[in-house]
Amino acid sequence: MVGMHALPHRVVVYGAYGHTGRFVTAELLRRGLEPILSGRDPEKLASFAAAHPALEVRAASVDDPESLMKALAGASVVINCAGPFLDTAGPLATAAVRSGVHYLDVSAEQAAVQERYRDHGETARAAGVAVVPAMAFYGGLADLMATAAVAGWTSIDEITVAVALDRWWPTEGTRRTGARNTAPRLAVAGGRLAPITTPPQVREWRFPEPFGEQQTVELPFSEIVSMAAHLPVSTIRSFFATGPLQDLRDPSTPAPEAVDGTGRSAQRFVVDVVATSGGQERGFTVSGQDIYAASAPIVVEAAVRLLTGRSTTVGVAAPGELFDAADMLDALSPDPLTIVRR
Ligand SMILES: NC(=O)c1ccc[n+]([C@@H]2O[C@H](COP(=O)([O-])OP(=O)(O)OC[C@H]3O[C@@H](n4cnc5c(N)ncnc54)[C@H](OP(=O)(O)O)[C@@H]3O)[C@@H](O)[C@H]2O)c1
Repeated sequence: MVGMHALPHRVVVYGAYGHTGRFVTAELLRRGLEPILSGRDPEKLASFAAAHPALEVRAASVDDPESLMKALAGASVVINCAGPFLDTAGPLATAAVRSGVHYLDVSAEQAAVQERYRDHGETARAAGVAVVPAMAFYGGLADLMATAAVAGWTSIDEITVAVALDRWWPTEGTRRTGARNTAPRLAVAGGRLAPITTPPQVREWRFPEPFGEQQTVELPFSEIVSMAAHLPVSTIRSFFATGPLQDLRDPSTPAPEAVDGTGRSAQRFVVDVVATSGGQERGFTVSGQDIYAASAPIVVEAAVRLLTGRSTTVGVAAPGELFDAADMLDALSPDPLTIVRR
């Protein structure tokens, strides 16, 4: 990237040796940035770092704020890949704000995103840094799609998100996060966050081929909190195909297995976002391979934009609020995301 090397460009990856952290580290290197590898387990860090002898390693624990400050020293951005984010995001965002370092994470947990707005809004603004939770497949991607879709509308009646995966091979981190994430799921009704109905609504959704018509169930992730924070919308609902949920809930489903040199699994995904306003309808369909792998270019694109001054505000912000959503989606397609306007 032109001018990149003239800028401070050190990016701490916290949870670097996790499944997602590894994709993020590789993507930072591919983009010409210099990751600093961090995480809580010095042995796991050392064994991951053996493949990257040129990179600095800084072990740090969320139970030890000073260790986090040391891990962030001299960096411009931290990307937190260590979840459950209900455990890690608070201490790490606090250390980032105190250090004057922009904070990004890949949280799918709604409560972890709500906490950032509650706990870091004022301090991040005062420190002049951006705190962006949920900058990944679950969360940020739908927020960018919705923001781009509704551009120019002053009020939005409804945004609907629908996600299908052909399979879900969950990581240990996904399983632990699911077990930790017990808060009632929220959607937006009447312009406000509110718990979804119990039992959740089931509906058919026609995805593009090869997914086709599928049964889905209401299952909102962090995108709801991000969208509700900045889009003038009455209703937001998120639905998820029931097939991959059975994979997730089955304890015998294996972890993802690499099928190519980049470490991606064979998993395919599709995300539909449809927005309506006064009888008009707009939206996007995004498809690609491997939700964990695809999260890396999304969050790293955000880091690059923060480093190159292509962000609009400071404080806690949603992806579509902080970045030019349409331009960012363009940057992510046709590889790794296939993006079609509906
Ligand atoms: N929003 C999205 O689309 C999206 C995409 C990918 C991942 N994620 C989320 O990212 C998280 C990681 O997923 P993953 O697939 O990378 O899982 P993973 O391979 O199991 O890695 C989890 C990482 O988090 C670290 N960690 C967990 N609890 C920690 C704590 N209290 N303090 C410090 N480090 C801690 C682990 O360190 P140890 O090995 O030392 O425990 C490990 O490095 C999960 O919460 C997952 O839901 C979200």
